[in-house]
Amino acid sequence: MKVMTILGTRPEGIKMAPLIQCLKREPGVRHVLVNTAQHREMLDHVLDLFGLVPDYDFNIMKSVQTPESVSAEILMRLGPVLDAEKPDVVLVHGDTTTAFVSSYASYLKKIPVGHVEAGLRSGDRYSPFPEEMNRKMIDQLATHHFAVTDANRQNLLAEGIAPEQIIVIGNTVIDALLNTASMPFTPNPVLDVKGKILLVTTHRRENLHKLQGVYEALNLLVQTYPELTVIFPVHKNPLVRSEVHKFLHSHERVLITEPLDYLEFTHLMKRSYLVLTDSGGIQEEAPALNVPVFVARENTERPEGERAGTIKLTGLTKERILFDIKQVLDYPEAYRKMAQAENPYGDGRASERIKNHLVSIYRGEDHRS
Ligand code: UD1
Ligand code: UDP
Repeated sequence: MKVMTILGTRPEGIKMAPLIQCLKREPGVRHVLVNTAQHREMLDHVLDLFGLVPDYDFNIMKSVQTPESVSAEILMRLGPVLDAEKPDVVLVHGDTTTAFVSSYASYLKKIPVGHVEAGLRSGDRYSPFPEEMNRKMIDQLATHHFAVTDANRQNLLAEGIAPEQIIVIGNTVIDALLNTASMPFTPNPVLDVKGKILLVTTHRRENLHKLQGVYEALNLLVQTYPELTVIFPVHKNPLVRSEVHKFLHSHERVLITEPLDYLEFTHLMKRSYLVLTDSGGIQEEAPALNVPVFVARENTERPEGERAGTIKLTGLTKERILFDIKQVLDYPEAYRKMAQAENPYGDGRASERIKNHLVSIYRGEDHRS
């Protein structure tokens, strides 16, 4: 059986790496890795960490790119690769432009698509943008839906996906995280700070130009709490960077860095006291390390975390963010409640379940190549 994985951004690399490694270890499976390189350095770090070498690298990233430009580039390049390789099944992850366009290109070649992390929904077609629509379209195009939770399965059923096409497997990000958190690591002395770390990331397209309140809240938090250090690895997107430099004041306890490689970031999450982020993946990872997460968004496609109490939606206004974060800094019981809530996203064996499912369907089916 021949499996092709197509990925292009940092989170896809992190969440597909354990599955790719698992498939490569399986006798009788031939694996082809296609990197659209929608992201460059941020993804290359991940591929290096997990020892993955792409068979194809489209190298499309530009310093200014839009979902339209990325889509056009990938569509042009993918058709001939699918024709040449004729995989039995194509795997994509999540909700990026790479994942959507790759699913569509595979559909045009009548190649079945397996969607890893299927069924997430925020319920708002413009938030996250364009990810909410990407994942809905991928779920219509896909044949196999690997859902993280039962609530994700219900979302798929409500959109008319047949029950036999869905399996609930947990999230492969927990496989990646547990693996990485146990790797030996020596912290960078600059980031090895005393006291409480508030780890921050922001990058969502729909949040660009709306982040002033987030950064102003950080300015006030470091002034109010002398034991607090903000560590902020800033996304490579120049639009994100210009906002950070405009509104976040320099302070000896505000450490702004380049994006960290995943090994360093994982260990930093482990040492952090709190996380403030608009990231998707970090809402699942930090709670697995017992670190409370404040989500700088108005909605989330991960309501299980909210229900469990591991994450809290805190929006984008300075006042609300200050109020919510002060609650846990001032009241140890409120902190303990969030830190000790149970993370609903899996047990670290999601990749193995996906591999077993694919092998049960495609083993011996080398009819295409
Ligand atoms: C994309 C995904 C988003 C995901 C995010 C992960 C879509 C629609 N969105 O958004 O779901 O959460 O990636 O980070 O696919 N850049 C670099 N080097 C890198 C990576 C990015 O310089 O290694 C810069 C480039 O200037 C690039 C910009 O970041 O143009 C934006 O990248 P892009 O992939 O278009 O969008 P993201 O906002 O990162
Ligand atoms: N991450 C990383 N280095 C950083 C910031 C994030 O390795 O400096 C990891 C993080 O642990 C998570 C992934 O990148 O696994 C999340 O990526 P991002 O927030 O860019 O995308 P999203 O999850 O929102 O799609």
